[in-house]
Amino acid sequence: MAHRGGRGICGASGRDAVAVFESSGFGRCGCGKRYVFRAARLCTPPFFARCPARAGGCRAAEPSVFVARRGNAFLNCDSIARWYRWLEYAAFGGALRRRREAFLFELGDPQKVLVLGDGDGRFLQLFVALYPEARVDAVDVSAGMIELARSRVASDRVTFHVADAREFVFEEEYDLAVAHFFFDCFDETELREIIFRFTAKQFLISEFRRTWWSRPLLAGLYLFFRIATGLETRRLSDHRTMLERYGYRLDREEDALGGLLASELWRLSAPLKKCQNSLHL
Ligand SMILES: C[S@@+](CC[C@H](N)C(=O)[O-])C[C@H]1O[C@@H](n2cnc3c(N)ncnc32)[C@H](O)[C@@H]1O
Repeated sequence: MAHRGGRGICGASGRDAVAVFESSGFGRCGCGKRYVFRAARLCTPPFFARCPARAGGCRAAEPSVFVARRGNAFLNCDSIARWYRWLEYAAFGGALRRRREAFLFELGDPQKVLVLGDGDGRFLQLFVALYPEARVDAVDVSAGMIELARSRVASDRVTFHVADAREFVFEEEYDLAVAHFFFDCFDETELREIIFRFTAKQFLISEFRRTWWSRPLLAGLYLFFRIATGLETRRLSDHRTMLERYGYRLDREEDALGGLLASELWRLSAPLKKCQNSLHL
C-alpha cells in the first residue's frame, strides 16, 4: 500500500516543480527516530508520532483517538484512477463537478489549504488557478490519482502527499480544508480520526446523502468501489454531527439530484478543546 511505503521524494525545486511525498507510518519518521508525544499523555494513551509527510524533516504530531489498523486496509484507487473521471460523467454527468464548485468563489483569501482525497486533481487545478495566494497540501492515498493530479497541476504552491489521511501528520491549523466525496470512504471512527487532528477556519465539503429513495443506489456505489478498489466502508457516516461537535457551523448548503448530493461550507466558530473531543465524541 502506498501509505506504508515510507518513501519520501521531494522534487520541489524552483517554480512549477511539485513535491511528492509518501509518508512513512507507524511511529517512525524519515530520519529513523521515534518520537513520543508529550501532549498525548494528557488525553490519550501514549502514542507515537509519525513522520510529517512534508519537506523539512521530523516533527511530533498531536495524536487523536487510538488508531487500530482496520477498515480499508487494502483500499487502492490506482486501478480506477484513469477511468475515474469518465465513470463519474457516465454515472452523474456534471453533477459532482457542480457540487465541488458550488462555493468556490466564497472562500475569501485562504493561504494555507488542505485538500483531502482530491483524486485526479480536477478540483485542485481550478482552485489553484482561482486562488493564486494559496499554498496547498494535497493528500491522497492513491499514487495513481496523485500522478494524474500532478500532471494537471504544475505549481510549486501545491505539495502532493501520497499518504493515508488517517495517519498523515497535518498542520495544526488551515485556513481552508476541502473534502469532496472523500468522507464516504470512512466509517465514523476513522472520520473522527481525520477531522479531529486539525482545525480549519473553513471546511468545504461535497458528499452523498441518504434519502428515502437513494438506499439501493448508494448500496450499488459502495459495491462497485468495494470490487474495484477494496473499499471496506459500506455506508455513509454522519460527518455533520461530528463537525458541529467540533465547533464548526454550517454556513452555506446546496443540494442536487433530489437531495442525493450536497455541497456544504462550514466555518469554525468555537473549536472545542481537542482533549475534550477525544474523550466525549
Ligand atoms: C471517491 S474518490 C473522490 C475523488 C474526488 N475528491 C472527487 O471529488 O471525485 C476518493 C478519493 O479519496 C482517496 N482516499 C481514499 N481513502 C483515503 C485515505 N485513507 N487517505 C487519503 N486518501 C484517500 C482515494 O484515493 C480517492 O482519490
